[in-house]
Order: sequence, then structure tokens, then C-alpha cells
Amino acid sequence: MEKLLSVKKIVVGNQQVKILRDISFEVKEKEIVSIVGESGCGKSMTLRTIIKLLPKNLEILSGEIYFDRIEIRKYNEMEKIRGKEIGMVFQEPSSYLNPLFTIGNQIEESIKENISKKEKKEKIVNILKEIGLSPNVYYQYPHQLSGGMQQRAMIAMSLINKPKLLLADEPTTALDVTTAFGIINLLKNLISKYGLSIIFVTHDISLARYISDKIIVMYAGMILEKGNADLVYNKPLHPYTQKLITCLPEKYKKGEKIRTIEGEVPSFKNLPIGCPFSPRCEYRQKLCEEKIPEEIEVDNRIVRCIRYGNFMEN
Ligand SMILES: Nc1ncnc2c1ncn2[C@@H]1O[C@H](COP(=O)(O)OP(=O)(O)OP(=O)(O)O)[C@@H](O)[C@H]1O
Ligand code: SF4
Ligand SMILES: [Mg+2]
Repeated sequence: MEKLLSVKKIVVGNQQVKILRDISFEVKEKEIVSIVGESGCGKSMTLRTIIKLLPKNLEILSGEIYFDRIEIRKYNEMEKIRGKEIGMVFQEPSSYLNPLFTIGNQIEESIKENISKKEKKEKIVNILKEIGLSPNVYYQYPHQLSGGMQQRAMIAMSLINKPKLLLADEPTTALDVTTAFGIINLLKNLISKYGLSIIFVTHDISLARYISDKIIVMYAGMILEKGNADLVYNKPLHPYTQKLITCLPEKYKKGEKIRTIEGEVPSFKNLPIGCPFSPRCEYRQKLCEEKIPEEIEVDNRIVRCIRYGNFMEN
């Protein structure tokens, strides 16, 4: 499979804080890559960096991003890529759908192709059908749809220009389990139908394993482990990934007390000098508090932990 997206050693932040540090990963054609991690670890910021939609006070300080041979950092015509080559689906569709316009109207607005109104309508009705919505949804307003239907409408909107890459930021978190699985299976099917790649953001590592080819585990703006989804889930190497998996509710028998990861996620204004996970890690050594571990390849995946490799210069 060809490489579609290549993120190389990206640092995002400003003089005061670094929100993303040394982020590198790749997405190949027709691949689903999940980014997992606790709230505030930088998952959404990673997606926003790819499409250069960062908050005003933050910028890409170093590194490179290649999308389909374009160097995104130097590229000044992002409007040609956003919503066209790269589609986006967000957690709460209700905040992105305009309550005053019908779904048909809103999807029509996002069509970039120069075609007649009739052709646009045909295209929209086809895509609504393909993602499991009735053609009538074309005439409906967002409030007339359930959360799952709104999310499907958002997916239709993001696919209307046939993107090569879909960024899905927790698209199922606000939905009940059955509706969420309907959406997940839909996303999986889209890969074969449209041949697109997906970056899927979630808190839930077991969902990530179900949906994706690769898992990226983030913590405090850094990637701590990344690799084949089954491998990372079944044989996690990083102490943080191991904790994420042992704390999953489905790993417990009825009545057994569920453990949580002790301690708190560090604040970006007060990050540990060394390994970001060091304050919560049971394997911590003295050097872990002083130096950041380098990414190292172990057992067919990448891990950032001194138990498997070296420290890098801070
Ligand atoms: N404009 C900003 N300036 C400085 N820091 C910011 C800014 N916006 C967000 N942050 C911080 O960046 C960090 C990463 O945020 P991000 O939204 O990527 O987290 P996330 O992993 O998507 O979390 P969640 O799971 O809650 O959506 C957060 O700790 C947040 O406080
Ligand atoms: S580098 Fe040290 S503190 Fe960090 S995860 Fe590894 S053992 Fe734990
Ligand atoms: Mg987020």
C-alpha cells in the first residue's frame, strides 16, 4: 500500500507551552489508524495540525507533514484540501450542522464540483442512500434527526467530494452502543467502497483495536506506543498502554473492583522534565524523571520507554 500521509517529528505550541512533541506517524492508502489516549492528550490537536486549523495562539514549530506529496506546512491553499481531499467528522454533529438549513442544503453547500443543481441533488440522494439514510433526509432539518442520523449526515457531507483521507474525531462518543457500532461498521465499509483512509480518534482502545489496522497511543502530547492494532492490544509494551488495557471494564468479572490508572494526566503548563508518564509509572527509574525516552522499534512496533531503549537529549 502507498503512503498517503506522513507526519514527521511535529512540534506544536508556542513560547510558553508545547502541546504536541515529536509526533511522527504514517497513514497508508485504505488504512484505518486510530489515535487513543486520555482527555487532553492532544488527539484533536493532532488532527487540527494535519489540516492546519490550529487555535491562533498555537503553531507548528518544527517537523514536516506530507499529504499525497504536498508538504502541508509550506502549502498556502489549504481550502483546496480541507473538505475535499481530506474530509472531517466531529464528535458532536449538532454543533456543526446549521439548524436553519435542511441537510440537503448543507451538503449541497459543501460540493466543490462545478455541476448543475439537479446533478448535485442526485449526488446527495445517492450518498444518503449509501450511508443508510432515507432520501427524505434531504428535505429534513437537523432537529428532525436522531444523533446517529445526524452523525451519518455529517459523514455523507464529509464524503461528498470523495476525499482520500477522513479525519474522524470521536464520531461515536455521544451515541448509544448500537448506534455507535452502526457508524463504526459503516466507516469500515467505506474503506472498501471509496478506497479512502481514516484517522479515527477515540478514548477507547478496544474500539480502536476493533476498527483499525494501526493504533497510536498518545499521552501528554507525545506518542508512547504505535503499531499493528492487534499487536499493541494483545501484547502492549509501554507501561501506559498496559495500564489502559488492564483498566478496561470488559477485563473484569461481575462484582470485581475496576482499577483505574493512579495519578493524574500532567498539565501542559507543568509537564514532567523527563518521561511524561514518569509520575504515574510503577517502573520509574531515576533517569526517567530527567530525560525523555527515544522512540525505539521493539517487536514490530515503536515504543517510547527506557525499559526498551535510550533517552534522547531534552
Ligand atoms: N488554544 C490553546 N492554547 C493552549 N493550549 C490549548 C489550546 N487549546 C487546547 N489546548 C490544550 O491542548 C491539549 C490537547 O488538546 P486536545 O483537544 O487535542 O485534547 P484531546 O486529546 O482531543 O482531548 P479530548 O479527549 O478531551 O477531546 C489540552 O490539554 C488543551 O488544554
Ligand atoms: S521511561 Fe521510565 S517512567 Fe517512562 S514509561 Fe518507561 S519506565 Fe516508566
Ligand atoms: Mg478531542
